Amino acid sequence: MTDLDAVVYGANELVVGPGDPLETIEDGAIAVIDGNVAAVGPTMDILREYPTENAAESIDATGRAVLPGFVDPHTHAVFAGDRSGEFAAKLRGKTYQEIMAEGGGILSTVHSVREADTEHLVANLLDHLDVMLAHGTTTAEVKSGYGLDTETELRMLEAIDRANEVHPIDVVPTFMGAHAVPDNAESTDEYVNCVVDEQIPAVAEQGIAEFCDVFCEEDVFSVDQSRVVLEAGAAAGLTPKVHAEEFTRLGGAQLAADLGAASADHLLHASGNDAEMLAEAGVTPVCLPGTAFSLGEDYADVDAFRSANAPVALATDFNPNCFSQSMQFAVALGCIGMRMTPAEATVAATVNAASAIDRNDGTGSLEAGAPGDLVIADVPSHVHVPYNFAVNNAETVIKGGRRVYD
Ligand code: NIG
Ligand code: FE
Repeated sequence: MTDLDAVVYGANELVVGPGDPLETIEDGAIAVIDGNVAAVGPTMDILREYPTENAAESIDATGRAVLPGFVDPHTHAVFAGDRSGEFAAKLRGKTYQEIMAEGGGILSTVHSVREADTEHLVANLLDHLDVMLAHGTTTAEVKSGYGLDTETELRMLEAIDRANEVHPIDVVPTFMGAHAVPDNAESTDEYVNCVVDEQIPAVAEQGIAEFCDVFCEEDVFSVDQSRVVLEAGAAAGLTPKVHAEEFTRLGGAQLAADLGAASADHLLHASGNDAEMLAEAGVTPVCLPGTAFSLGEDYADVDAFRSANAPVALATDFNPNCFSQSMQFAVALGCIGMRMTPAEATVAATVNAASAIDRNDGTGSLEAGAPGDLVIADVPSHVHVPYNFAVNNAETVIKGGRRVYD
């Protein structure tokens, strides 16, 4: 008997973690003990110390790339209903905001989610988590925000918690009662009061959510309203996150910096100054190129973040308006759309993404001591993941040293 969970060896390239250049090992191997990385190194050294016959799982990764499991730090993966009709409308020229103003968009999903029982929400989420896992995601944040009333927001968080219990992906829960203003609210201020006075205390009492997020946007929540929500969330133990500068430059990035948020997300209209403020405040900028891609918007300006030395993260933003669960696709868009280098995009989708959800325990890297979460990709290097876009390059996925997909 042994406590050696897994040995993966012979990798053409093993990506250990960030660095300039990326820290990689040729003909690399990794040993996982008790769920965590015990050692990485050249195959000969690792196999001498950790013989495959002692391992519960041993995998020959010859010709393949081994990467840290992807971390997806921004999703709205729990929902119900079908908004494919909006997809066609958008292709005919309707804007996201027009659809929202007509009561579609987020509000249409809200109606479906309020009608769905919790069992159904869990089942839907599990299906999406399966797709994420198959594409190499081993940790994912999931937001509530399609309930917009206390009971349904709590049920969404319960669904996230139940899915986390049974699924190999580590699911990180975010409360987002301030995702939109429900159509039965008297005013935005009245709804903000409901979020602050009713929803946040109930969410804190339920004890599932870790973060509190707000859609800080023209015609949704102003900077002041967002601040009120995030400060109430923080007082209840929920770390702030902000949907910032997506369609307009309203000041959400500055708010995220002021509040020391974990992340500011979207940032399509963020300025160089915003990037510097985020970097100084230690707020992770999260770029969601899939959203820009699906809406036909310009991508976020990665040069601004580079100049500010801000550790950009990538996420899918998987939701009914951006229907892709694949971090490989986000990485490809990070490269092809935003002109990130494959090394930058790989770091953005792993260790920087982990920072955006406060997982600073080595998650997103394969250094000794990090969680034993990795992807064996059927390509020779990390460069080939975005280079060979729009297919699934993940062959085997390991979570905590256990083979969970192949
Ligand atoms: O991050 N921008 C706001 N929220 C989501 C979209 C949610 C939806 O359309 O259902 C986003 O893109
Ligand atoms: Fe979002």
